[in-house]
Amino acid sequence: MAERVVLITGATGNLGRAVAAAFEAEGARLALVGSRSESLDEAFPKRDPRHLKLAADLVDAGAAAGAVAEAERQFGRIDALCALAGGFHMGEPVHDMPPDAWKRMMELNVATVMNVAKAAVPGMIARKSGRIVTVGSMAALKGGAEMSAYASSKSTVMRLTESMAAELRGHGINVNCVLPSTIDTPENRAAMPKADPEKWVRPADLAAVIAFLCSDGARAMHGALVPVVGLV
Ligand SMILES: NC(=O)c1ccc[n+]([C@@H]2O[C@H](COP(=O)([O-])OP(=O)(O)OC[C@H]3O[C@@H](n4cnc5c(N)ncnc54)[C@H](OP(=O)(O)O)[C@@H]3O)[C@@H](O)[C@H]2O)c1
Repeated sequence: MAERVVLITGATGNLGRAVAAAFEAEGARLALVGSRSESLDEAFPKRDPRHLKLAADLVDAGAAAGAVAEAERQFGRIDALCALAGGFHMGEPVHDMPPDAWKRMMELNVATVMNVAKAAVPGMIARKSGRIVTVGSMAALKGGAEMSAYASSKSTVMRLTESMAAELRGHGINVNCVLPSTIDTPENRAAMPKADPEKWVRPADLAAVIAFLCSDGARAMHGALVPVVGLV
């Protein structure tokens, strides 16, 4: 991974910080994208020439393109895109769904991936090389009560991944998706105090799978939806 350039969206989040740590340990240069500069400074307080912090609302296609262009300008290229930004919402049946809840899930989970991928792919095509990893969800393999917006948005990410993989494999670009079960995060521990977090997936374990999908070892993988469900 030495000298490779990895752009990570959702870098300030629980998974994003673990993925950044995994690539940092391998010597990669990191374009770290969060929605706000305050959260970026909080997550990555130390000054590091191998870090480029980029604040952008990735729901906005122009802002996403600007972040990708700045990463390419500063680092020369993007070898791997880890499109991790996303969010979760549940709680209403379809017949009671506020239009904003549906729209927000599609924005946070689909538009953020689509906008940054659209901006990063042309450079990868020009170099005939690239890795893209997206994040679906085990919980979106099937619809569930009061989860339609989330499940639909993450299902869309999975289909987008498969379509991009088919479109881009001839260009030397691998596109794959991880499907985590519940990730062991402080937010999930607070929301589910009676659950056993040992049964969840640790961010570092998920990060290791994402790093593998960006490695040479995964060069023959295209359009895989990889379940990552923890140790026990
Ligand atoms: N947590 C779970 O149990 C679980 C399970 C399955 C799948 N996933 C998926 O795994 C991924 C990471 O989850 P996580 O728990 O690490 O999430 P998280 O801690 O909530 O972090 C979300 C990240 O997305 C960024 N983000 C949100 N809206 C954005 C926007 N409009 N523009 C740019 N960035 C934006 C946030 O940036 P700021 O902090 O700067 O706002 C933050 O870095 C997500 O795609 C999530 O859906 C999570």
